[in-house]
Amino acid sequence: MIELKQVSRRYGDVQALAPLDFSVRQGEFVTLLGPSGSGKTTLLNLIAGMVPPSSGQIFVRGVDITHAPPSARGLGMVFQNYALMPHMTVFDNIAFPLRVRKLGKDEIRRRVTNVLDMVRLPNIAGRKPRELSGGQQQRVSLARCIVYNPALILLDEPLGALDKKLREQMQLEIRRLHAQLGITMLNVTHDQEEALSMSDRVVLMNEGRVEQIATPDELYRAPRTAFAASFIGTANLIAGTVEESGGEHIVVSTALGVLRAASASCPVPRGAVVNLLVRPESVRMTPAHDSAGAGDRTCHAGTLEDSITLGSVVRHHVRLPGDMQIVVQQQGGTRATAPAPGARVMLDWAPEDCQVILQD
Ligand SMILES: Nc1ncnc2c1ncn2[C@@H]1O[C@H](COP(=O)(O)OP(=O)(O)O)[C@@H](O)[C@H]1O
Ligand SMILES: [Mg+2]
Repeated sequence: MIELKQVSRRYGDVQALAPLDFSVRQGEFVTLLGPSGSGKTTLLNLIAGMVPPSSGQIFVRGVDITHAPPSARGLGMVFQNYALMPHMTVFDNIAFPLRVRKLGKDEIRRRVTNVLDMVRLPNIAGRKPRELSGGQQQRVSLARCIVYNPALILLDEPLGALDKKLREQMQLEIRRLHAQLGITMLNVTHDQEEALSMSDRVVLMNEGRVEQIATPDELYRAPRTAFAASFIGTANLIAGTVEESGGEHIVVSTALGVLRAASASCPVPRGAVVNLLVRPESVRMTPAHDSAGAGDRTCHAGTLEDSITLGSVVRHHVRLPGDMQIVVQQQGGTRATAPAPGARVMLDWAPEDCQVILQD
């Protein structure tokens, strides 16, 4: 559907986007995810044609549109600040792109009514934007975008101004529209939950570079960098050096002693400086006295610092020797049943739940 080849953008001395190869398939929902300033809007604006690239080429359905004006690209854009025209009614706002395209009166009425039904706002065609809530305005800007069947819809943090509950509801709505219309969507957010819950694939960005392009599941289970591991969910990262890598496990020497990890997807030569990733839900915590070193698992004695209840899970912070903090997450249970802060505890995890990540 859309393909970028070595596309980059500089602003003076700032490399807003390093050369990037990337493509989106027909009907796919892809999210650009990253902290503020990582280059997400720059990438979206390059695709939309609002900003010319410093290098590279952009293709839509095989046609080179690198230097085409925005209006010739057949793309729709939805922004955080709605960008509705305040003096026009909802009907006229949505009809606007159709009038520009010189469609007939009846066709326009039919299409506007149809999209208002689609975004579940059937009775507000006569209102002005200021008479609508934030969520309703965002639905109207979505309707204005889908009404002319663009090949691709670009969404730049469209839900950023909405409160959490409404944001989650709109995420479902957008996914529903995506499935119903089979339209290709490229979404931008800094909210990892939104990216994971909505997307077929996620492009994780950091300082103008792509860290990883993967499905939400892969990104969580097999992050390729320490940044990716920490940005998606919570990561315990333990620095170390590879001692042995040929066998069943990779043996790594760390501040916690020699640890074993599952084989990595990339080659890790002896002597390589790495991080070990252990997710909080993979760590088992037991009171110090009844831990007897469970088979394959290595135990680490530490001190419980605090416990926080997050709905159905409890999160513990445990201090280990060498001033290392490990986050432990337990399903069920409550803070009341956990050992008291200050208690001695034992932590352990299976080598299979420990992954090797090369240090950048
Ligand atoms: N028009 C501009 N002029 C100068 N620098 C810019 C401009 N637009 C973006 N940048 C810089 O490019 C980098 C990426 O910005 P942006 O793409 O807006 O990030 P994001 O959308 O991920 O927050 C930032 O360092 C930003 O300051
Ligand atoms: Mg932005």
